[in-house]
Formats: sequence, C-alpha cells, structure tokens
Amino acid sequence: MANKFTALTPELHDYVVEHGARQDELLRRLAAETAELGGIAIMQIAPEQGALMTLLVRAIGARRALELGTFTGYSAICIARGLPDDGRLVSCDVNEEWAGIARRYFEQAGVAERIDLRLGPALETLRAMPADEPFDFAFIDADKVAYLDYYEQTLRLLRPGGLAMIDNVLRGGRVTEPDPGDEGDRVLVELNERIVADQRVDVAMVAVSDGITLVLKR
Ligand code: DHB
Ligand code: MG
Repeated sequence: MANKFTALTPELHDYVVEHGARQDELLRRLAAETAELGGIAIMQIAPEQGALMTLLVRAIGARRALELGTFTGYSAICIARGLPDDGRLVSCDVNEEWAGIARRYFEQAGVAERIDLRLGPALETLRAMPADEPFDFAFIDADKVAYLDYYEQTLRLLRPGGLAMIDNVLRGGRVTEPDPGDEGDRVLVELNERIVADQRVDVAMVAVSDGITLVLKR
C-alpha cells in the first residue's frame, strides 16, 4: 500500500507555512526576538501550529483557556486571538525573563487584558485551581517530565467537550527509538500509550511540527 502521508521536506514545510498560516508582522517580530535567545528558541511553537490553535479556539467558541508553558508568548497570542474580547487565558511559566518578553508582545497585540500570566510551577498553579470554573481549551507544553501530572490536572479542569492540545508528542522522532534519550522522551512515550487507551477522551494525534495530540474530554 502506498504511504498515507506526505513526508515534509524543508521546501514543502515552507509551502505549508506560506499557505496555511497567516503569520503577521507582530508574530514575525516576536519569533525574531525569541531567536536571539539562542537554541532555546526551539521551544517556540511553529507558525502553522499557531494558526491551528487560533482556529480551534475560535471553532469551539472557547471563552476560558489554559496554557502550560508561556515561554515568550507566541502560543498565548495565538490562543488569545481565538478568544472573544471578554475571554480569558491563564498562562503559566516559571521564567521571569521570558515572561517579560511575552508581556510586551501581549500589549502590542492588544490581548494583554485577556491573558493572566501566572509565574510559578504550573503543577502548583493547576492544583490550586477549583474544578468549578472549567476551561474550554488547554495547551500542554512546559516541563516534559511533568506531562503525566499536567495531563491529569488538565482533564480535571476541562469541561466535558473541552479540547486539549499536547505539544511535542513525537519528541523529534525519538518516541519510536528502542531506548529514548532522556526522561522527557520516556514520559512522552508513556503518556502517548496512556492517552490512546484513555476512554475518558476522544483522541487524534497530528503530525504538525513536533507532533501534537488533540484530546476531547467526554
Ligand atoms: C523542547 C521543548 C518544547 O516544548 C518544544 O516545543 C521543542 C523542544 C525541548 O525541550 O527541547
Ligand atoms: Mg513545545
């Protein structure tokens, strides 16, 4: 049987970005400033992933969103842009310097009032949240070693019918290696196995960027 996928080349990937994402001047500037931070910039989401996030948030009519891992704010802006004016995004990170960059761009993007940036370990922030103000959308990124706990806490805080997107589920392709490289890789292998068997959710893993899993809480 022929392959049921089209393998990306750098040229095809450029094509996807050029035809599948409307990365505006502000997001381009934020990406350029983030690139100046060096190799850590790999943690920024891909433009086509950002477009997908804005579209999904808007498509489900989300009013309350959650993000674990703000970094310099690219994904938060993409989420916030899909929310209505009175919508709210709670975004968690531990790094003051990254948060400073993020806040500047939230202002410039005109979404600062929609975003509540919480500095501190995401797991502590999550555990302190009551389940009676549930979220419609969640983006799980941040500390890979904590992903199993992030997943459980996110499911607790998501409304039935709420959508979660989990980042980096392919770990650069290492999830299929017999001996995945680091603890983060092993956690993702375990989480991927758990999620596909988890009858609390509908699931779709999508090979965008470093792989994302979409789960819809039943
Ligand atoms: C890494 C983390 C991310 O969240 C990401 O999107 C890409 C890479 C990392 O830790 O290497
Ligand atoms: Mg990521």
